[in-house]
Parts: sequence; structure tokens; C-alpha cells
Amino acid sequence: MKVLLLNGSPREKGCTYTALTEVGKALSECGVESEVVWIGNDAVAGCIACGACASLGHCFMEDRVCDFVEKARSADGFIFGSPVYYSAPNGSVIAFLDRAFYSGKSAFEGKPAACVTSCRRGGASSTFDFMNKFFGINSMPVVSSTYWNQVHGNTPAEVLQDTEGLQTMRNLGRNMAWLLKCIEAGRAVGVKLPEKECDFRTNFIR
Ligand SMILES: Cc1cc2nc3c(=O)[nH]c(=O)nc-3n(C[C@H](O)[C@H](O)[C@H](O)COP(=O)(O)O)c2cc1C
Repeated sequence: MKVLLLNGSPREKGCTYTALTEVGKALSECGVESEVVWIGNDAVAGCIACGACASLGHCFMEDRVCDFVEKARSADGFIFGSPVYYSAPNGSVIAFLDRAFYSGKSAFEGKPAACVTSCRRGGASSTFDFMNKFFGINSMPVVSSTYWNQVHGNTPAEVLQDTEGLQTMRNLGRNMAWLLKCIEAGRAVGVKLPEKECDFRTNFIR
């Protein structure tokens, strides 16, 4: 069982990484492997709505977003981490997730996910709400913790002083491991993902 931890910060070993590392440690203690994938600190191109992914099966840009989607195909769960920029995920994370989910939806579908946010002071909740939307539209069970998944700090050293934030990260890792084991146990006795109806795509509610 493997969980991908996306570090969406331009800072490779910053606060978001520190939070994800705490989740990773808890996963490891529960016998679940994890890998941090760093988004990088150069620009991530946004979706240009060309629709090419529908026929190609992947985004035509063939960059690190495609690499991530390929990796995601064999992963069992996901934690997406972002620093808070003006009360929202940073622009790179939004561009990354827009393209990953639009072009590679099937790599994530039905697999458990959570997001974690890192902020100095405020905006964690709106960032958390924003990121959870990617899971809700893609049949992904959302893993929770004992608080909304946030840490506070401007530096890793400050995050390490946020004892409740770190506790939230550890509980998130344990809950993710628990759900992955439940899914595996279910699969072993023949429980399959439910059938989906995808017949309707309307623009109007009546
Ligand atoms: C452009 C920009 C906008 C930011 N906006 C916020 C904000 O709205 N609220 C907040 O508390 N911190 C804000 N911060 C601070 C970061 O969210 C915070 O330092 C975070 O923990 C950094 O995580 P990282 O080290 O993983 O990049 C902002 C930082 C930058 C660079």
C-alpha cells in the first residue's frame, strides 16, 4: 500500500513538507509506504481547455503533471499539501490539480484522499475547503483527522512548535492507513467499487 504526498510549496523542505513528513511517519508506523512528490519552484502551466486529453488519455503538455498522474495510477491514496497564499492554495497547486484531475481522473477515482495546508496565521480553512472539491467530484473517500488538516508557521521550526497541528497530521496518517486497510480487506472478500451512473450532464437544474 502506497500513499503519494504532494508537496505543493515552492519551498522543497518548508512548512508544507514538515506537515507531510509527520503524516508520512504515522503512515510508516502503520505499515503503509509513502512518497513525497515535490511540485517544484518553476511555473506550472494551467489547463488551456483544449480537450486534447480526452483523445490522448493524458495532458498534451507532457510535463511533471503527467508524471504525477502516471505515478498516481499505482498509488492507493493521496495527501495533497499546499501553503496558503491569500487564503487559497498557491497558484501552482491549483494549476497542477486542475490539469491532473481533468486529464487523469481515472488515476484518482475511488481512492482515499486528504489535503493539508500550511499558513502563518489565517486562510487555512478556505484553502482546505478549496482542495477538498477535487475529491468530492471524483468518488474519492475523504480522510479526516481530529481537526481540519492545518499547521501554522512561516518556517519548519515554527511548524514543529505547533503541537496540535502535528498531532492532526499524525491522526490523519493513522486514519488514512486504517481506511486503506479496510478497503484492502473489503477487496479481498469481493467488495467492489459501486457502479456509477454518468448518463446525465446538464447545465440547468430544471
Ligand atoms: C504569496 C504569499 C501569500 C501568503 N498568504 C498567506 C495567507 O493568506 N495567510 C497566511 O497565514 N499565510 C500566508 N502566507 C504565508 C505562508 O502560507 C506560510 O508561510 C506557509 O507556512 C509556507 O509554507 P511552505 O514553507 O511550505 O511554503 C503567504 C505567503 C506567500 C509567499
